[in-house]
Amino acid sequence: MSGTQGEVRPVLEVRDLDVDYGARRRRRRALHGVGLSVVPGETVGIIGETGSGKTTLARAVLGLVRPSAGSIVVDGEEVAGHSRRQWRDLRRRGVVQYVFQDPLRSLDPDLTVKASLTEPLLVRGVGADEAADRVRTLLDRVRLDEELLDRLPGEISGGQRQRVAVARALVTEPRLVILDEPVSALDSANRVQVLEILKELRDSGTALVFISHDLGSVAGIADRVAVLYRGELVETGPVRDVVNAPTHPYTRLLLSSAPTLRGDAPADRAEREALRALLHA
Ligand SMILES: Nc1ncnc2c1ncn2[C@@H]1O[C@H](COP(=O)(O)OP(=O)(O)OP(=O)(O)O)[C@@H](O)[C@H]1O
Ligand SMILES: [Mg+2]
Repeated sequence: MSGTQGEVRPVLEVRDLDVDYGARRRRRRALHGVGLSVVPGETVGIIGETGSGKTTLARAVLGLVRPSAGSIVVDGEEVAGHSRRQWRDLRRRGVVQYVFQDPLRSLDPDLTVKASLTEPLLVRGVGADEAADRVRTLLDRVRLDEELLDRLPGEISGGQRQRVAVARALVTEPRLVILDEPVSALDSANRVQVLEILKELRDSGTALVFISHDLGSVAGIADRVAVLYRGELVETGPVRDVVNAPTHPYTRLLLSSAPTLRGDAPADRAEREALRALLHA
């Protein structure tokens, strides 16, 4: 042991990450030189407009797309060059989990809610009784009624489904959960409720990467925020600093579209137009 206090090993460390889609002449760079570090218990928001590379970053961290260059260290393990088998083993350990915008993509449509939540426990050798107990506790945590246990994902509402997706992500007691637009498809009542559940999750010490195109939903939950613009991270910092003193023109543009966050007068249209012109010059 080195005994150095304050040196916390990140649960996720991404360095100089490039991701390209398409082969040869159709090759397009989706991420370039991205670096990001998340320590245990921290919530980092990733924001950026459509096509900026947010989902690509999530997919790279989850092993769903192979990076062209760079390093991704998950809980101390370099995963950027992992084979499919290594990824399978890593997934089985359940260290990193995910929730997508569309819960039907996070859930197996042919499994009942009960099966979705119980199977990961049974695979890990947890006994049936204890598994049932833990699933009950989880349902409580995401405010779902036990009567939904025997339904399929297609037989419950969108808000309930997203709560099942959150519960499924938590079954393995992950150290890190990647949330890709977890509330964007929900109506405002469900959005508020799911955000509450995610805040409780954050407060319980699980590290979260919270992806959104909307700074407003991220600002209330994240410790730090990273701004993606055209595949590059242009700004990273504590939410308060980024909101009050953005350094990149794109961040200023994002903020001028969400003026209530700064608590001062809404930026006028001329300012927004000027920033837009600057960005797209
Ligand atoms: N499977 C794919 N094949 C080729 N190009 C892709 C693929 N997926 C994404 N892209 C491209 O990569 C870029 C980044 O896409 P990505 O889905 O990461 O953006 P995003 O920030 O998540 O956008 P949104 O807010 O719309 O979800 C875009 O230009 C997109 O068209
Ligand atoms: Mg996306």
